[in-house]
Amino acid sequence: MLKLPGLIDPHVHVREPGATHKEDWDTVTQAALAGGITTLLAMPNTQPPIFDEATLNISLDAAKAKARCDYGQYLGAGPANADIVASLAPKAAGLKMYLDSTFGELRLDDMTLWTPHFQQFPKSAPMVMHSESRTMAAAILFSVIYDHPIHIAHVSLKEEILLIKAAKEKGIKVTCEVCPHHLFLTKDSPLPQGEGLGVRVNGRTEVRPRLATQADVDALWNNLAVIDCFATDHAPHTLAEKDSDSPPPGFPGLQTMLPLLLTAASEGRLSVDDIVQRLYTNPKKIFHLPDQPETWVEVDENAVYEIKASDGFSRCGWTPFEGWQVKGRVTKVVLRGKTAFENGKILAESGYGRNVRD
Ligand code: NCD
Ligand code: ZN
Repeated sequence: MLKLPGLIDPHVHVREPGATHKEDWDTVTQAALAGGITTLLAMPNTQPPIFDEATLNISLDAAKAKARCDYGQYLGAGPANADIVASLAPKAAGLKMYLDSTFGELRLDDMTLWTPHFQQFPKSAPMVMHSESRTMAAAILFSVIYDHPIHIAHVSLKEEILLIKAAKEKGIKVTCEVCPHHLFLTKDSPLPQGEGLGVRVNGRTEVRPRLATQADVDALWNNLAVIDCFATDHAPHTLAEKDSDSPPPGFPGLQTMLPLLLTAASEGRLSVDDIVQRLYTNPKKIFHLPDQPETWVEVDENAVYEIKASDGFSRCGWTPFEGWQVKGRVTKVVLRGKTAFENGKILAESGYGRNVRD
């Protein structure tokens, strides 16, 4: 039996408010606990997005009533809310800036809209960037100009990890995370496909950032030292949505991250200590998370089994890793002295979870 600390996932799409047919604060925290995660940080691209005090409270009220593990809620950077989000920083996990994609109220059309956030958001509070490729270079330049540490979400490309490596070597205060699907899948991986789709786009491969090439995946593995955190970017959509004509991008990942990483550890690709650093030690520091006393995760390192969506607690009902054989099973999770998960059953109640900023 292997004993790990309660793990931290700094990048989760909870879907509440607004899309609870995909997931809500109850199901997402069940999936987290089953995956050995005792703290998750929730992204703000909900409906409505979390971008002011009223919307922050909508999410935090739902979380308070329903969450079974500990949590924080990000604020989204919008075109006109820099002063508002700066004043709310102590109540939030941090600020999420969508510099590439566009999300309704969180749309930042040009770089003049980045500046007030870099100027006003407290320097000690986490700022997370969705910034791919050359936009990432721009985000790092802003971080230098405004002397504000940044954390880069879901790094997936060789050019990105090499840029972050070079920035760190210059002493720039940049940290980053990588998702399991960018470590274990490429754009050519044979992913399960919906019935009756014929030659249409396979929506089950759609994720942002997109799955990349083998050379990109190799560059991530070869630069493990540059990766501060692993994060799921758990982005659940239903199978009906994924197999539709306009499939939304996103993969679920809360329950598969640790088994996939433990399997890689059993193959000698990284150590268990490498995993603990990236799922506990580093995120705890980067996101200023409190101690969880009497909290741990028990793993049967030798359990070999197949990943099945039917064993999942997420409401989305599918996984891109269906049928993968993995080695390493979460058998028990104790959160603040209480057994929260054991032998496949969730034991923590709705509302047991705490806001990390309370
Ligand atoms: C995210 C989602 O579904 O919320 N999807 C994803 O593929 N990561 C949003 C996004 O970042 O595009
Ligand atoms: Zn995301």
